[in-house]
Amino acid sequence: MEIRDRVAVVTGCATGIGRATAVGLARAGARAVVLADRKDVGDTAEAVVHAGAEALSVPTDVSDLGSLRDLFARTEAAFGRLDILHNNAGMGEGADIWPAVPSERCAAIVAVNLTGVILGTQLALEPMKRSGGGVVVNTSSGGAFVPLPPQAVYAATKAGVVHFTRSCAPLHESHGVRVNCVCPGLVDTPMILETGGGAIADWLKPVYDGVTLLRPEEIADAVLALVRDDEKIAEVVLVENQPAAAERSG
Ligand SMILES: NC(=O)c1ccc[n+]([C@@H]2O[C@H](COP(=O)([O-])OP(=O)(O)OC[C@H]3O[C@@H](n4cnc5c(N)ncnc54)[C@H](O)[C@@H]3O)[C@@H](O)[C@H]2O)c1
Repeated sequence: MEIRDRVAVVTGCATGIGRATAVGLARAGARAVVLADRKDVGDTAEAVVHAGAEALSVPTDVSDLGSLRDLFARTEAAFGRLDILHNNAGMGEGADIWPAVPSERCAAIVAVNLTGVILGTQLALEPMKRSGGGVVVNTSSGGAFVPLPPQAVYAATKAGVVHFTRSCAPLHESHGVRVNCVCPGLVDTPMILETGGGAIADWLKPVYDGVTLLRPEEIADAVLALVRDDEKIAEVVLVENQPAAAERSG
């Protein structure tokens, strides 16, 4: 899909990967980017407008069905169409380590990372069909493929996103909607600092020290590539870390 003049919704875009995708879409010529986060998205909105697109901020909790319905209704009301959805909002166990994670937080992780992706995709289908088709890109994680004992709930939801994405292949035929996902390795965003309550968690340190962190823009590039390539249907794309520079040279 050509991104120029398209209308996109990006969830979880106050910082990190979602912010980079929102700005990337604007730079690629999108007409409008709808910014959906439960945090303030003022900085992202400014950057999107600076990059040449309209920005509409819609305070959204992706774990709340009513809030998601409102997001898509406001998008269609403002711009008359929906072409692109990046289901990106996510959360992890924070500084707690499975199984010593409050049950309420476990439920919230599933609601945001998995239910939010499923319902976001479902609610986007009709608006996208009315627009002549569309593209959904979900954010999973490299943690979907390897056991992640300290963040077992997070890992389970991200594996779920991969399987959900693969199971959405027929939506291309039925609704003209391609659903794909990206699986980033460790990315330099606020989320990785939440693992240690403002620092890198001890359990993550060996991995963190061994790799070069990805930049959010590298994940945004992968998302935009999936949007552009009409051949990509139910595709799962890994964006992996390179070994840390010291290891590479030595
Ligand atoms: N940083 C990494 O190393 C990494 C690796 C793999 C996957 N991911 C995934 O990338 C996605 C983006 O995370 P990030 O690394 O950019 O971190 P981030 O903390 O910068 O972004 C996450 C965003 O999601 C928003 N969010 C959380 N719960 C929400 C809710 N209920 N409703 C609406 N918005 C909500 C947050 O407010 C935040 O803006 C997440 O799905 C995350 O799991 C991150």
